[in-house]
Amino acid sequence: MRTLTIALAKGRTAKQVMKMFEKIGITCEEMNDPDTRKLIFENRELGLRFFLAKATDVPTYVEHGAADLGVAGKDILMEEGRVLYEVLDLETAKCRMCVCGPAEAAEKLKHGEQITVATKFPNITKEYFLNKKYQTVEIIHLNGSIELAPIVGLSDVIVDIVETGSTLRENGLQILEEICPLSARVVVNQVSMKMEYERIMELVRGLRKVVKGE
Ligand code: PRP
Repeated sequence: MRTLTIALAKGRTAKQVMKMFEKIGITCEEMNDPDTRKLIFENRELGLRFFLAKATDVPTYVEHGAADLGVAGKDILMEEGRVLYEVLDLETAKCRMCVCGPAEAAEKLKHGEQITVATKFPNITKEYFLNKKYQTVEIIHLNGSIELAPIVGLSDVIVDIVETGSTLRENGLQILEEICPLSARVVVNQVSMKMEYERIMELVRGLRKVVKGE
């Protein structure tokens, strides 16, 4: 039996996703060790191997076939635009992609003025403003703590993920427009899907039942 490789995003999502796998009898003991620095975990009996990648790299591993399957946030899938099959919404790690900023920025947005947008997601931002809102924007690419940008005058607004909303609240910002809902998705390499269709679909069917609480 060929080993199926599954790419997960390091961190909280990996833990939530492994709990879902455990419910369908797929475990990786070593992965539960909180002190481990290992990145690859194998369950030989089941012919499965999991690895932990940086979240933004998961679609890259899957597109190139270094992983047969992966779990990645919809935000990363949209931003990376990789060629893969998105087969299941795990309905976990739920959050929203939003345009946020100080209350005053709402007017600028409404009137379609030329605005500056700071974000970790330049492709999503471009797609939203140019193709949906027909609005010209200047995009400033940042790597984190995006909420700082409008506060220190780097941009008018930001495009970022909102989960609980507390980062916004504590920094005096608010949601101005909602772009789309987000959650963790299972993605599959296109060749793997053909070669290992039955095994992959068995996993997907199992996970779907977990999502539906069956
Ligand atoms: C994300 C996101 C927001 C925050 C939203 O940042 O970019 O800053 O979480 O969560 P909340 O609505 O629950 O406050 P993350 O913690 O991933 O770090 P980053 O600032 O480095 O992007």
